[in-house]
Amino acid sequence: VSDPLLARLRDVVGAAQVLTDPDVLATYGTDWTRRFHGAPRFVVRPGGTAELAAVLAECHAAGVPVVPQGGNTSLVGGATPAAGEAVLSLARLDDLGEIDVVAGDVLAGAGVTLARLQETARAHGLRFGVDLASRDSATLGGMAATNAGGIHVLRHGMMRAQVAGIEAVLADGSVLSRLSLAGKDNTGYDLASLLVGSEGTLAVISRLRLRLVPDPPHRAVALAGFATLADLLATVAHVRDALPSLEAAALVREHTGVGAPLQGDWPLYVLFEAAGREPQELLLAEAVLDAPVPPGDAVVAADGPTQARLWAYRERHTESVNAAGVPHKFDVAVPLGALAEFVAKVEPGIRAHAPAARVITFGHVAEGNLHVNVLGVPDEAEHAVAESVLGLVAGLGGSISAEHGIGLAKRDWLHLTRPPADIAAMRALKAALDGRGILNPNVLFPAPG
Ligand code: MLT
Ligand code: ZN
Repeated sequence: VSDPLLARLRDVVGAAQVLTDPDVLATYGTDWTRRFHGAPRFVVRPGGTAELAAVLAECHAAGVPVVPQGGNTSLVGGATPAAGEAVLSLARLDDLGEIDVVAGDVLAGAGVTLARLQETARAHGLRFGVDLASRDSATLGGMAATNAGGIHVLRHGMMRAQVAGIEAVLADGSVLSRLSLAGKDNTGYDLASLLVGSEGTLAVISRLRLRLVPDPPHRAVALAGFATLADLLATVAHVRDALPSLEAAALVREHTGVGAPLQGDWPLYVLFEAAGREPQELLLAEAVLDAPVPPGDAVVAADGPTQARLWAYRERHTESVNAAGVPHKFDVAVPLGALAEFVAKVEPGIRAHAPAARVITFGHVAEGNLHVNVLGVPDEAEHAVAESVLGLVAGLGGSISAEHGIGLAKRDWLHLTRPPADIAAMRALKAALDGRGILNPNVLFPAPG
């Protein structure tokens, strides 16, 4: 292709790192759920911060919009290009520095996968506070840009809580560097925190200084079956209060390809995980069984392989939902006091517009975060189904995105839980940092018109 921009980009990153083959482009242009598609104009893969800065300067000068992409594991179309947009792959920014055991942190490139960081940290008796099922593909830059949550939010918080510093490149190619080694830094606007959760709309994250946490020697996992949501919520509240070492309380609903976890069939399951300096098996078992209304049945695992088998019930949801069809995913949170009302109303609300739809709900119950996955939504019912789920959430005082972000999927509903002044302030930031609107211009804000 004789496009002058492509020629300049080839000079910057090398010809092999500017991709134009339509088959290759298609893989970058399709999201994990296959719901969102785009034909990228090209894919460019810079190999470090200097190349990234030069690539952005070129795209900025040419007015070509770019969609930053890490492991392409967005579940809301946050990294899928629209026609005419290029994909800026950060996969080659994969330098992982030495673990600083004294400070308890590490400097990592945006393209380092979560699994690689976890493995490296564990070799030093540490680990990273965020974990999620897509760990083998999800990259740290994308996780920060979307403020990813995952399975251990209860104990360690979301991605924002792990980020000690960020280096990022602005739309025009200038480099922001907030990677200070100082443990404390109180020198004005917290730009690193601002970029976390900005979904690639304000700058492109190139490197991160990430906090690590101790890796406790003892871990236990329990799976408990419940007859009602009220019993389940009472038990979760009890276990959370009784067990400070609790790391996860995950709602498990449907499973495919794995045998039944417990005797009997329960409509609801919760997976609990605890980790600490002392053996956790008995502590966890006691906390679960001492609940005011103990579960109908429960199993506790202290050894790694059995724990992994129990976690599979929770972690395989996404792939089994994707295998069953192209899902409409609603990643919402409601106050715990409103969870029962939400669960009672959400399916009838969906069925009113899509009578044949299949609804699969799982999530992170301690945070009131439910992943409502809807299969079999006819095109003409898409808008009404989204309106019904997200309207219900907003009416109950919840959030239309608990952890996946807004992306393309929920931009038309941002107003439901962010007032006009918030949206105006966010737009003003976008205009100040990316006046030409070349950074992921289609996500987060409502579509024009
Ligand atoms: C999960 O909790 O497993 C993730 O958020 C993925 C999903 O919602 O499918
Ligand atoms: Zn989740």
